[in-house]
Amino acid sequence: MSKFRGFIFDLDGVITDTAEYHYLGWKKLADEENMEFDREFNEKFRGVSRMECLDLLLEANDRKVTPEERKELAERKNNYYQEYLKNISKDNLLDGIEEILNNLKDKGYKLAIASASKNTSIVVGKLDIKDMFDTISDGHSVKKSKPAPDLFLYTAENLNLKPEECVVFEDAAAGVDAAIAANMIAVGIGPKKRVGHAHYQFDSVKEIKLGKIIKK
Ligand code: BG6
Ligand code: MG
Repeated sequence: MSKFRGFIFDLDGVITDTAEYHYLGWKKLADEENMEFDREFNEKFRGVSRMECLDLLLEANDRKVTPEERKELAERKNNYYQEYLKNISKDNLLDGIEEILNNLKDKGYKLAIASASKNTSIVVGKLDIKDMFDTISDGHSVKKSKPAPDLFLYTAENLNLKPEECVVFEDAAAGVDAAIAANMIAVGIGPKKRVGHAHYQFDSVKEIKLGKIIKK
């Protein structure tokens, strides 16, 4: 048995491809509001809470809004996002993720989801994966979102594990930062320029080599 006992997975961009739907939701809102927004800017949104994303968008476009307008804009984006979610199913699991989850479960490790998203329960329900996890933390669980370590520490506590017994899988720079700040092992999924600062980096879920992480 390795020194690790629990594996914590981010949701959007690690378990499923919903990162794209977040992008499309923001893009639709930005177009309607005549705000500049592209895929490159969207990279800043990975792992970042809804309100913080909106603030980044408003700031980049020099837009001042009232608290009511801010709320309405965030709600509108979320409605668009939830429209896309209506069509998702098990087919939207990223290639290779089920094998990894089954493999870890068979080996007796505890499994968790820790996502910044307030839509986590909808997505998990659509993907039909709830039973695989010992605990699920989401955008409602803690106040300070990634890159703060809070969500991962809260998840470890729920798993009854020490931070150093946990490995985190993340596609976001902010998520890797959060895992490192929580004193956990960070596995970055995606390009080096985004998650190269993680302890391990793989270009995609399919390329993850569990053996490299779980050493004797
Ligand atoms: C994260 C995504 O998982 O959830 C972010 O990477 C997103 O892009 C965040 O902004 C919050 O999501 P939601 O569903 O609460 O708007
Ligand atoms: Mg993510």
